[in-house]
Amino acid sequence: RSIKSLTTSSSSHILRRGYASEAVPDRKVAVLGAAGGIGQPLALLMKLNPLVSSLALYDIANTPGVAADVSHINTRSEVYGYSGEAELGKALEGADVVIIPAGVPRKPGMTRDDLFNINAGIVKGLCEAIAKHCPQALVNMISNPVNSTVPIAAEIFKKAGTYDPKRLFGVTTLDVVRAKTFYAGKAKVPVAERRLIIFCNSSLILSKGMLDMWIYYSDLVFFLVSEVNVPVVGGHAGITILPLFSQATPKANLSDAEITALTKRTQDGGTEVVEAKAGKGSATLSMAYAGAVFADACLKGLNGASDVVECSFVQSTITELPFFASKVILATLFEHNKLFVRLNISDDKSIAVHMHFAVEVLYFYTIVNIVLFLCLQVRLGKNGVEEVLGLGPLSDYEKEGLEKLKPELQSSIEKGIKFANQ
Ligand code: NAD
Ligand code: LMR
Repeated sequence: RSIKSLTTSSSSHILRRGYASEAVPDRKVAVLGAAGGIGQPLALLMKLNPLVSSLALYDIANTPGVAADVSHINTRSEVYGYSGEAELGKALEGADVVIIPAGVPRKPGMTRDDLFNINAGIVKGLCEAIAKHCPQALVNMISNPVNSTVPIAAEIFKKAGTYDPKRLFGVTTLDVVRAKTFYAGKAKVPVAERRLIIFCNSSLILSKGMLDMWIYYSDLVFFLVSEVNVPVVGGHAGITILPLFSQATPKANLSDAEITALTKRTQDGGTEVVEAKAGKGSATLSMAYAGAVFADACLKGLNGASDVVECSFVQSTITELPFFASKVILATLFEHNKLFVRLNISDDKSIAVHMHFAVEVLYFYTIVNIVLFLCLQVRLGKNGVEEVLGLGPLSDYEKEGLEKLKPELQSSIEKGIKFANQ
């Protein structure tokens, strides 16, 4: 709705609320491997996402318990648990987004490629089912080794005649999440600062409860996001992970030694967690967060939101390699997601800032700034990938890293293709 129509609107708050919820389309998300270390917190985060109307949780076992547990949360989506291969088709039917964290994780001393023998077969079977039951879905591949599992998925979809490179994504968001965190720490900048801007008719806010109501019923709400940004390209294993700190924002005056250390820490981020967990698996919580961020971006894109840009391991012509993690544009429009706003206003500091502005000015089109401490990316496309962005200008150090990663990435891609076709 335009701002103009809002000023002349005399509809009741209740009517406005109805209007807002009708604007959000139904979306089904399926999580395969939902009872695992990543799957469970990811199921929770997807249950909190107001863009999801139906959440299908599939695993070879233990999903009824996870689904019953998550289903008690009073958010929008209906939750269904599916257990065992016989129920896989039902879990996938009608899915808009399928997230795959199924498979074994690393133990100390292992490489991601050491997981190939088990995970390649798991991913192959799941992708065959996707081709059959929801060929249009956007597939978010988390299972390692991503550098090989994504090419496996592509080959399986090609064989089934359903392959659309715009709909297949290797989830490399955790590399971006890590690069942002480590960079922010070194550059001494806040990792994320989000300003919430609300356009509304005049009102008076005297309490947190009223503020909550006001935001919920206000006419137009959107975010200005200012956060640390670091593109990470290449693949998802060791030196194939190439963070582009020369393009990081906000700019910081870091020495070459600091950039080298940041690059190495980002590349070894997974190993850092594997070693700290000492045999009890790899990153699960940060991965669930990263997976939820990426799935949210996919949903926004499908819904026609604007400026959705994420890094992902996708088919591209950016380098001579067939798959490469690049920045991908997923969408383009302004979004106002009131439910999400409501979930984020519990921070007392935010309320204090808000109250400060609230008592100062409250006229037509009052602008209220709330600083929220959440990292969130924005931008998405109705068919998945709208555009794969180029690498941008690279430093000499990054150019060198790019050349070094190519042979390893090429061989992991070929390994996946060979496996799928044997
Ligand atoms: P986990 O062992 O805790 O959970 C894996 C789950 O997959 C289990 O519940 C298991 O029952 C299930 N599973 C196994 N075979 C299945 C099948 N055929 N169908 C459905 N489900 C099946 O492992 P985790 O810690 O959740 O990690 C899962 C995968 O994600 C690993 O391969 C790990 O390396 C990878 N991972 C990737 C990233 C990334 O950045 N892309 C980050 C962290 C972990
Ligand atoms: C990660 O980056 O944390 C994952 O790929 C898991 C792993 O094995 O490191």
